[in-house]
Amino acid sequence: MLATSTVAEEILDLKTDRRAILLAHHYQDAEIQELADFVGDSLELARKAHEAEGDVIAFCGVWFMAETAKVLNPSRIVVVPDKDASCSLVEGCPVEPIRQYKLRNPDHVIVSYINTSIEVKAESDILCTSRNAVQVVNSIPAEKTVLFLPDRNLGNYVQQQTGRANMKIWQGSCIVHNTFPLRRLLEAKEAYPRAVVVAHPECPADVLRHSDFIGSTSAIIDFCRDSTAEEFIVMTESGVNFSLERVAPGRKFHYVANENCNCSECPFMRLNTLEKLRDSLLYLEPRVELSGDLIARALVPLERMLAIR
Ligand code: 13P
Ligand code: SF4
Repeated sequence: MLATSTVAEEILDLKTDRRAILLAHHYQDAEIQELADFVGDSLELARKAHEAEGDVIAFCGVWFMAETAKVLNPSRIVVVPDKDASCSLVEGCPVEPIRQYKLRNPDHVIVSYINTSIEVKAESDILCTSRNAVQVVNSIPAEKTVLFLPDRNLGNYVQQQTGRANMKIWQGSCIVHNTFPLRRLLEAKEAYPRAVVVAHPECPADVLRHSDFIGSTSAIIDFCRDSTAEEFIVMTESGVNFSLERVAPGRKFHYVANENCNCSECPFMRLNTLEKLRDSLLYLEPRVELSGDLIARALVPLERMLAIR
């Protein structure tokens, strides 16, 4: 490696030396997405991790996504640039109350959003992402009561889409999407009256009611690519702009600031930087380490989800 290399060049060299694949979520900084072998939503990244060859998966996203990669491909070394890249949904859903709930309700089916800790996944019957949550809940026999966790906005959206009455919803939320105020969306609609509104289902119900399309990050990007509209108001993390500008050049994308950070960036996702990515490839740390027992138990609900196409 040359002393004068840029950090990006160092990463590319290390990627080759380590036989690493670089997976990035749409919410990463553009400079990370530019270097990635694959950029996608949480479901696509799980599938890519499953089939990844080589020795190392450098996962540029949040920790629960990297844990999922480790479960699906346990013989690989999985590193994340920043160990503190957590998620408010994970933090708001500890495992112990779920264990207690299972003891009280052994016949209920636990559907967990992939934004959960590995311990919660291991207690779950099936997992879902924002992309397949409706299909996953529809796959459960109608007479069974479902506990959907942990995102209440996604849960309410799924309940509305499936018309399922016997569904209990955990009251967690995303600090980014749940704090997009309707007032600001309405202001944006007034400022850009021709814009089509696209939203992630983690947004509050009133925001979703005023949206023209609701879907996962990749579904939003595909929708904008295929739409004939020239302008969009995008109700999700603004990292999606990298792919939107690539697949739909010349269109206009407007972002609405939330009330948490007065921005539309996930503070956890944005902990990852090029320098930390370089160091994670150099030192192979921070590394996801999981016990064989946890891997085996979390794999069951994960494979059930992946079997649903
Ligand atoms: P996707 O499943 O759309 O990638 O979303 C993950 C996420 O964390 C949304 O906040
Ligand atoms: Fe978690 Fe929200 Fe960040 Fe997604 S945007 S990783 S749900 S805190």
